[in-house]
Amino acid sequence: MKRTLSIVALALLVALALVSCAPKGPAEIVIGGVGPVSGEAATFGKSTQEGCELAVEEWNAKGGVLGQQIKLVYEDDKGDAAEGAAVWTKLIQQDKVVAIVGTVMSKVSLAGAPISEQYGVPMISPTSTNPSVTFADGKLREFVFRACFIDPFQGTVGAKFAYDDLGARKAAAIFDVGNDYTKGLSEFFRDTFIALGGEVVAFEAHATGATDFKAQLTKIVQAKPDVVYISDYYNDVALIAKQLRELGFTGPLVGGDGWDSPDLVKLGGEAVENGFFTNHYSKDDTRPEVQDFVRKYTAKFGAAPDALATLAYDAMNIMLDAISRAGSTEGVKIRDALKATDFAAVSGRTMFDEQHNPVKAAAIIEIKGGQQVYRTTVAP
Ligand code: PHE
Repeated sequence: MKRTLSIVALALLVALALVSCAPKGPAEIVIGGVGPVSGEAATFGKSTQEGCELAVEEWNAKGGVLGQQIKLVYEDDKGDAAEGAAVWTKLIQQDKVVAIVGTVMSKVSLAGAPISEQYGVPMISPTSTNPSVTFADGKLREFVFRACFIDPFQGTVGAKFAYDDLGARKAAAIFDVGNDYTKGLSEFFRDTFIALGGEVVAFEAHATGATDFKAQLTKIVQAKPDVVYISDYYNDVALIAKQLRELGFTGPLVGGDGWDSPDLVKLGGEAVENGFFTNHYSKDDTRPEVQDFVRKYTAKFGAAPDALATLAYDAMNIMLDAISRAGSTEGVKIRDALKATDFAAVSGRTMFDEQHNPVKAAAIIEIKGGQQVYRTTVAP
């Protein structure tokens, strides 16, 4: 009897030892997040981080994905391409992320995309609108997706708004020549404005990091445009608008999603009044999924979500939905599931076209009395 017992005890011990030696599955699934938390447009990175965090928190509360909790490792790309490439590599090699949600600026996503491609780690950029992020040199980037519309559409919406709604016939544009997004967007605006029958009377480049735009803006004012298109990020938009107003231009200003920041009005004040921009969403959209999200986000972070926060939330949800449908954390399987996405995102139903771009509407926002006022939504 004693003998049997000790054999049982021994067997138990062996079994225990075997279990504890067996390779353990990862305790959690690690997802990378990337945004510019410092640098030239820091509100972008903070909003993006908050949107990612809220989505992950909600999934974890419901039991995570593939039965495991999700861990978000969020990195600051500082709005810089080289920094972006470095954090992409770090997330993949060191943190062993299975997917990346990021980043904001096209010029930085353009640095991350080839790295995702090389390692086969799928990425979805919430807000990089330059076409080349997912499709470059006539080739699709298989592992690269985005949650937003692209600049040919956004530039067209801006040009039509300037021509049809504002009645402008002469337009000028100013852009950052070192930034793929702002240069591309101004070009798309110009091409459509001309195709509509308008005239582009000035098309002025400035350097990245410039703070004095007087030389370009003097040329613009002398060309007597009805409207000035500014395709920069909010901090530059504020500076350009101020200097343009000082030079006597009182007409409307039009721009793109780069305007979206609570800091635009803080920095630009009166100068950005009579300003209009295309955006991915408006918090005043009455759709219940928008109002629901605005309520949840505001309760957690104390301010309404901007487009960056909303798209980061959407992008994270799209990625986690794909991992869940893939039933695996293998890059190729996640990629295939991403391709088959049909997701009811806050910013609109999301399905990808053959270049991994969702086809989505744009909102037009007016700056009036220091507030962002929702004007209309333009479908593609
Ligand atoms: N679309 C911008 C880019 O591609 C980034 C951006 C998106 C900025 C949304 C503000 C709001 O660089």
